[in-house]
Amino acid sequence: MAYKAVLFDAYGTLLDVDSAASQLAASGRFDSLASQWPELSSLWRNRQLSYSWLRSVSGHPVPFWQITCDALDYSLEVYGLDREPGLRDALLDLYRTLQAYPEAGSVLEMLKAAGVKTAVLSNGNHQMLEDAFSAAGLRQQIGALLSAEDADIFKPSPAVYQLGCDAFDASPDELLFVSANGWDIAGASQFGFATFWVNRAGLPTERLNGRPDRIGRTLDDVPHLVAPT
Ligand code: LAC
Repeated sequence: MAYKAVLFDAYGTLLDVDSAASQLAASGRFDSLASQWPELSSLWRNRQLSYSWLRSVSGHPVPFWQITCDALDYSLEVYGLDREPGLRDALLDLYRTLQAYPEAGSVLEMLKAAGVKTAVLSNGNHQMLEDAFSAAGLRQQIGALLSAEDADIFKPSPAVYQLGCDAFDASPDELLFVSANGWDIAGASQFGFATFWVNRAGLPTERLNGRPDRIGRTLDDVPHLVAPT
């Protein structure tokens, strides 16, 4: 199918949101992280998303980086880690430069070589996205970094998905949206995008209005969806 462009979610889709806590735990710098990092990372992500939705509903958006810091502060306090010297800053430094998923670079490279236009469409604010994709070595492989910051609200608001249509002068069904987040795929499908859910964790489909058009386990299927051989 010839789409005008492929739009990628960032966090959890191209960038591994658990890599900050897992890398720091593996470094051995903080004993307390050794056993607690998976729960800490999960609560951090969970609150980051909840805060973005709550701030959207209440009409008080702040940059996604601020939300990420607030969510970490809450999570560190829950696990009694808020007084551990240097831990907060070390986690945030690593979050700024999250690792990409192993297949992300080659998939983006294949799309670029095939002449397929790509962009990131993320809740992340512009600075966060620039920092993360530059650090991951993926900035040259991706076109625009489209941010919810420009819509003053977060996904799954249609106003954010509309940024993708505006960027490519496209109707929703002319764009393929790729995300590993089930809630994001539901919102994007309802908006009218063609969707591919990277269901990395093998989760059930979210009980929301939009259903994914296609489902896979990694990004590897994406080049086949846009340029069938
Ligand atoms: C993103 C996060 C929320 O929009 O997954 O990149």
